[in-house]
Amino acid sequence: MKGLSIGVIAIVASSFAWHQDPARHGAFAGRWVVPPEGDAAFRQVYALEQSGGAVTGRVINATNEQPIVDAAIADGTLTFATVAGRPPNERRTEYRLRPSGSSMAVTLIRPGRDPETVIATKGSVTAGDAPARIEPPALHRVPANGLAKTPPMGWNSWNHFRARVDDATVRAIADAMVTSGMKAAGYTYVNIDDTWEAGRDASNRIQTNRKFPNMKALADYVHSKGLKLGIYSSPGHLTCAGYEGSYGHEEIDAKTFAAWGIDYLKYDWCSAARVYKDEEMQAVYQKMGDALRASGRDIVYSLCQYGRNDVWKWGPEVGGNLWRSTGDISDNWESMTRIGFSQDALAPHAGPGHWNDPDMLEIGNGGMDAAEYRTHMSLWAILAAPLLAGNDLRAMSTETAAVLTNPDVIAIDQDPLGRQGRRLRSGGPIEVWSRLLSGGKYAVGMFNRGETPATIEVRWSDLGFTGARAVHDLWRHRDAGRFEVGYQTQVEPHGVSLIKVQ
Ligand code: GLA
Repeated sequence: MKGLSIGVIAIVASSFAWHQDPARHGAFAGRWVVPPEGDAAFRQVYALEQSGGAVTGRVINATNEQPIVDAAIADGTLTFATVAGRPPNERRTEYRLRPSGSSMAVTLIRPGRDPETVIATKGSVTAGDAPARIEPPALHRVPANGLAKTPPMGWNSWNHFRARVDDATVRAIADAMVTSGMKAAGYTYVNIDDTWEAGRDASNRIQTNRKFPNMKALADYVHSKGLKLGIYSSPGHLTCAGYEGSYGHEEIDAKTFAAWGIDYLKYDWCSAARVYKDEEMQAVYQKMGDALRASGRDIVYSLCQYGRNDVWKWGPEVGGNLWRSTGDISDNWESMTRIGFSQDALAPHAGPGHWNDPDMLEIGNGGMDAAEYRTHMSLWAILAAPLLAGNDLRAMSTETAAVLTNPDVIAIDQDPLGRQGRRLRSGGPIEVWSRLLSGGKYAVGMFNRGETPATIEVRWSDLGFTGARAVHDLWRHRDAGRFEVGYQTQVEPHGVSLIKVQ
């Protein structure tokens, strides 16, 4: 009797297990939506198909989708991975999915990060899909807007605040821009980056989320300080952080921005990559260029598509005032120098009204030391790069302020001739760059990328002239003297000597 009842329990239990077995049950099939933290559309969608124990599918993000690899089910848990990047820089993310009632508990394991568990819920069969394609317009030339005769200067929320930016922070930054001396030094634009957006109202007007209760009032406040307000959107349906983009709503968005009093738009490719090919970028960016022009307001147009498809060749054609020429900067020496020293060949494409943009400044964000931040500032000035501070201006050290507001260095960046500097020579850890300034003067940056002090020299013949020249040292704030054939100085590791040759 006892043996029989144990047997019955075993059969019941195993048939229960059979019904519960997600491998047999198709329990993983469907679209699993990981909800966003803020007002983004979603964080990720797992689009999975299951046939018995075999699972295939994709992980959909706002800006891309990746096939899953190495899928396997064991003990009721589905594991798979996605691989981003190309060898040797592949980044593998591991996923573990466990049914939890009608939801799915998902553990993400990313390199260098603690595992994170989120709850995904079953979405519609189209959750995460890109929108239907809208044909891009035929190409034409958008007339120049006459803005940004020198590289734009200001501040942007992304590098320091990411999704934590809100109305109160932007107001406080505008205040600090004035009290810190940044405004007096020439910084003008206060730019809100991604994560301000919500959905659209019944007439398709884009809405701000609860972090920005009244964008018009915020613009009025920033303007009352003698500053200008910038905003951010995407030609795709979603921004890079997964918020509402301008796809299919370019004209109404440009009008809305103008009505709010916006003075600057950063327009970030992001999810447009899920609808358009890189070769279509010009037409897609032209659409917003036209819309901004038709808005009737002076709005600086900043293209952000990471330097793809030779944007410097067509950026001005779409009404662009600046275009990102690289991927995203990070607050470290490797990232900053990799970007900054890669810009030489782009120099001919910069000029008044249209600039190469090697991304925003990291000065003061803490990942580099003072010498490295002086290198950052000097290199960006030689490159005629937009100077968009990316630090918390409310809590800036005097050292950081001194780097960001050095008037002589800013004067190099803002030189009215608008000629982007070039590499004169490089060898080992040494880089010597020069920039022709108005009045026939030159800025010369002598950079030491090495780990020990170095003596660096520039000869006047390298700059194409002979005869004695006066040298002003822009970080030591002093005249260095007159020199017959050239100038030579010691430069600290990761440091720079930035001089003006009269
Ligand atoms: C992209 C851009 C960044 C920033 C983020 C916001 O990565 O290159 O500068 O705007 O999107 O999501």
